[in-house]
Amino acid sequence: MEVINISNEKETRKYGIKLAKMLKPGDVVALIGDLGTGKTTLTKYVAEGLGIKENVNSPTFTIVKEYRSGRMPLFHFDVYRIENEEEFFDIGADEYFYGNGVCIVEWADKVISSLPENRITIEIEHGKNEDERIYKCTY
Ligand SMILES: Nc1ncnc2c1ncn2[C@@H]1O[C@H](COP(=O)(O)OP(=O)(O)O)[C@@H](O)[C@H]1O
Ligand SMILES: [Mg+2]
Repeated sequence: MEVINISNEKETRKYGIKLAKMLKPGDVVALIGDLGTGKTTLTKYVAEGLGIKENVNSPTFTIVKEYRSGRMPLFHFDVYRIENEEEFFDIGADEYFYGNGVCIVEWADKVISSLPENRITIEIEHGKNEDERIYKCTY
């Protein structure tokens, strides 16, 4: 596990863009962290790094949103409202995981046993100051 100390949103952007460069089709990124830790914000910056032109916002009410204007598709999940893993399966999550794009899953701890074991996991915590975040990453 790698621990990354982020001081402000600018550093989140830098990390997101760097992460985007590492990603390849079929990768799944699990984001775990409380409300406001910056899961959606990080996803926006990964999208920027992928060359996505659309505005990325939270897919809370739709569970998944697709963005196809970048160098590969991005499937952005927010599973906050999912009741159980069966519901996640019912939306066809599996097909996204083994597809030709990258999946980023907010609140991934809710569906962790349905995610591929071969994934990138980023646990995000607040730091001491308002804009600080601590990333615990497993690649
Ligand atoms: N270092 C940082 N990284 C990400 N977001 C930050 C950071 N510092 C402050 N913020 C702010 O925190 C909020 C994070 O919100 P959001 O990305 O919606 O969180 P989540 O999706 O985890 O609920 C945003 O308003 C963002 O501007
Ligand atoms: Mg969010």
